[in-house]
Amino acid sequence: MIAPYPVKLIVVGAGLIGPRHAQHVHDNPITELMAIIDPQPDTKQIAQQLHTLHFPSISKFIEYCNSHKLPYPDGAIVCTPNHTHVKVAGELASYGIHLLVEKPIGSTPEEAKSLKVYTSLKNVRVLVGHHRRFNPYIMEAKRNLHKCGEIVGVQGSWMLCKPQDYFDVAPWRTKSCAGGVLLINLVHDLDLLQFLFGPIHRIYAELLPKRRDHEADEGAALTIKFKNGISGTFICSDNVTSPFNFENATGENPMIPHHNEINGIYRIFGSKGTLSLPDMTIFHQSHMKNSTWLEPLLQEQIEFDVAKLPFDSQLNHFVDVIRGNEDPYCCIDDGISALLCIDAVLKSIDTGMPVIVEDVKNIKSNDEALTLKELRFHLSQTGEASIPVRKFLTNNYASLKTQSNYKLPILIRESFGIPPSLTARFEKGREVKNSLDGLDEAGVAKALADILKQ
Ligand SMILES: NC(=O)c1ccc[n+]([C@@H]2O[C@H](COP(=O)([O-])OP(=O)(O)OC[C@H]3O[C@@H](n4cnc5c(N)ncnc54)[C@H](O)[C@@H]3O)[C@@H](O)[C@H]2O)c1
Repeated sequence: MIAPYPVKLIVVGAGLIGPRHAQHVHDNPITELMAIIDPQPDTKQIAQQLHTLHFPSISKFIEYCNSHKLPYPDGAIVCTPNHTHVKVAGELASYGIHLLVEKPIGSTPEEAKSLKVYTSLKNVRVLVGHHRRFNPYIMEAKRNLHKCGEIVGVQGSWMLCKPQDYFDVAPWRTKSCAGGVLLINLVHDLDLLQFLFGPIHRIYAELLPKRRDHEADEGAALTIKFKNGISGTFICSDNVTSPFNFENATGENPMIPHHNEINGIYRIFGSKGTLSLPDMTIFHQSHMKNSTWLEPLLQEQIEFDVAKLPFDSQLNHFVDVIRGNEDPYCCIDDGISALLCIDAVLKSIDTGMPVIVEDVKNIKSNDEALTLKELRFHLSQTGEASIPVRKFLTNNYASLKTQSNYKLPILIRESFGIPPSLTARFEKGREVKNSLDGLDEAGVAKALADILKQ
């Protein structure tokens, strides 16, 4: 049951991006910043400045809630390094806390899939932080795409220079398993391209020359084929001196200077016109029966409100997701899909061949994270609500044992007056507990099937 406004949120991870999220939560009248969690001692100061509590770990925060009889927060914004997202998000989900997880959703599609399975078991809603879907330039571009007629091609760039101290303060950014401009930045653009044009079918990528002594990549040039036949090119680097990137061109990130004269970081080419971003110019010849290179093109500017901050819109949407009013605008499958595109980029770089992007539906969850180790039924000897569970166990216990080859411990714990429940214990001590209260025998079977589906 979600409390009325304000919705209580925590921010987990307060490095580069966490404090920005925390500030938005603090400033928004419909959200309350309950705490910031980060093991780094200097992040205490960030919490103080925002008049909120600070904890070094999720477990310490939960202990505090329990000892002060406080309800857990309604949601958490996960801003920890990429390779920790799934672990941190899983821990929060085990307390039923809804999640806004920074992009990329995980470091592999398989571990992200295991998070999907786990959060759906826990009825935890997840929004993935591809916040540019909320950027007014992108929203307006999507609304106006039809003016280009039939889209044929797209061209884009994300080119800039990250300074050395960006890597010095957070060495995970130099590692190929978690950092690199492809996983950190290109993933945004590939998500946007899919958001605008639908699923990507195939990618061919060439690595750009490296200038740093890091394991992680520094950029690539891509050709992209979408499932609907649109083709495009995209170039991405974090070690060139250039303003041709989303941040410089749109002014989206307050830390990165806005160059408002930059045009054409995305160009979308169609049968009736071309849309250029972020100048939002449409070049067209809609006054003529047929387009021709022999006549000049007209230029039309799309007017809209650029002042809306994507982080604010994303946060308002997260509140609606938590309250069950909206489905996530960017769900785990969207996050996995963007990761699968990055996988295809990396495989193409490795093999020198074009690579078909794997379908999200074919991804199996990371078994290690989710192997079922034990089932535990709790029921009361006398309670009415436990009768269907007892019947279910009487009728099915033997076949359940056979199905699992007698390997899965199925424990039945009885005590007076307790409501019936089913707890599944997975690898690494992770537990899912589902209430069986009020369910008939078929409902108990379904609750069990949901857990065994994995
Ligand atoms: N949406 C965007 O525009 C955007 C921009 C920057 C970063 N990001 C993403 O945000 C995430 C964080 O990036 P960053 O650049 O802020 O990283 P960072 O290294 O600057 O900060 C990460 C913080 O998380 C803390 N941390 C690590 N493990 C933790 C745990 N278990 N519990 C609590 N805190 C923990 C670290 O101490 C650190 O302070 C990354 O996934 C990154 O890709 C998104």
